Amino acid sequence: MITLTKPGQLAINGGRPVAEERIPIHLPYMDESDFKAVEDTVRSTFVSGNGPKCMEFERKLAEFLGVKYVLFTNSCTTALDLAFKVKQFPAKAEVLVPNFTYTSSALGPLLNNLTVKLVDVNADNGNIDVAKIEQAITKNTVAIVPVDYAGNPADMDEVMRLARKHNLYVVHDTAQSIGSEYKGRKTGTLAHVSTFSFHGTKNLTTGEGGALVTDDDEIAERAMYMREKGTDKQSFLVDNKDRGFYEYVDLGSSFVQSNLLGALGIAQLEKIDWMNAERARIAAYYKAWLQDVPGLDFLKLTGGATTNWHLFGILVPPKHRYWIMDALRAEGVLANVHYTPLHRNKFYRGMATDEEMEGSMAFFRRLLRLPIYPSLTSLQRTRVVEAVKKVMSALPE
Ligand SMILES: Cc1ncc(COP(=O)(O)O)c(C=O)c1O
Repeated sequence: MITLTKPGQLAINGGRPVAEERIPIHLPYMDESDFKAVEDTVRSTFVSGNGPKCMEFERKLAEFLGVKYVLFTNSCTTALDLAFKVKQFPAKAEVLVPNFTYTSSALGPLLNNLTVKLVDVNADNGNIDVAKIEQAITKNTVAIVPVDYAGNPADMDEVMRLARKHNLYVVHDTAQSIGSEYKGRKTGTLAHVSTFSFHGTKNLTTGEGGALVTDDDEIAERAMYMREKGTDKQSFLVDNKDRGFYEYVDLGSSFVQSNLLGALGIAQLEKIDWMNAERARIAAYYKAWLQDVPGLDFLKLTGGATTNWHLFGILVPPKHRYWIMDALRAEGVLANVHYTPLHRNKFYRGMATDEEMEGSMAFFRRLLRLPIYPSLTSLQRTRVVEAVKKVMSALPE
């Protein structure tokens, strides 16, 4: 039984903060097995790209996801770039991108000379509004990039139904959703290509890193060349050791990962189910203790989906959103707002109006994120709940 202290004066007004030591919004989880994996690999002196640890990580991740090919890359951004590089779409062909996402979902097509068309998202969870996809499709549309905001899968059956109907290529930006499931299937298995992130903020981290995932032989083969400067070094390494050289066979860039990070990926993958379960325990705790707070709501999970709880969002009254964030931060809980809808950013300004993006704006204006990560202690979880209750019970007029 947890007893919450009586709400006192708000820290933002000079009162005593709920958490004397500030609680960060995210922290990677690392233990001895991670430290040892990296140290052993440094000692092996195989530190360059696409080494045996990278290949082992790819094999194990492919098994975990249930897919044919995993290509470990230096980021999700480069995996998204690669997902479009391997295709030969006509210049300026259109790609549909949800308006509430990280810039990289749009950079993939943009870096490949394609045109991005923004699609609005659901006001209750930030995922692409599937009812608005069809009206955005024109004769020039070639692809769509659904995103799993906060780890909660997009409505992929509907996305894939529309993709089949209009012959579209689907690159599923699963940056945030490793281990999440949609109707019993893991994200990474639901589209033509999926792209994961292993950035330091993600559930499974290699510091920086990502993966392009596919079951498609042709896409995988070209992506392997293009990831390694357009060379066939991968097949030289894997099955042609006697030849003594490799050839330059395509265009490309350098998207491979160091062997050190392959080793870190393996160590992280071994505990991903446990790390995701810890996040789920924290989410359940927050939900149990915050469900009756007036004016506070939770993000709606997609029907048939289970999330990996990459982020824990709350929806609060738009009028007080920034005030609540500042008040929580003063209490020592480093809540934040993330993302800003694409069309509100300098680079994408003019691509849509607030009125056209009413779902994104409604979601954005209410969203706040709370700390969630496996190393968040029981005491810190209690403090987060206490701070939210304290602040929400003292909203200004
Ligand atoms: C939806 C989405 N896509 C892409 C990225 C980019 O990932 P990376 O930093 O690995 O390039 C992020 C990072 O936060 C993301 O949230």
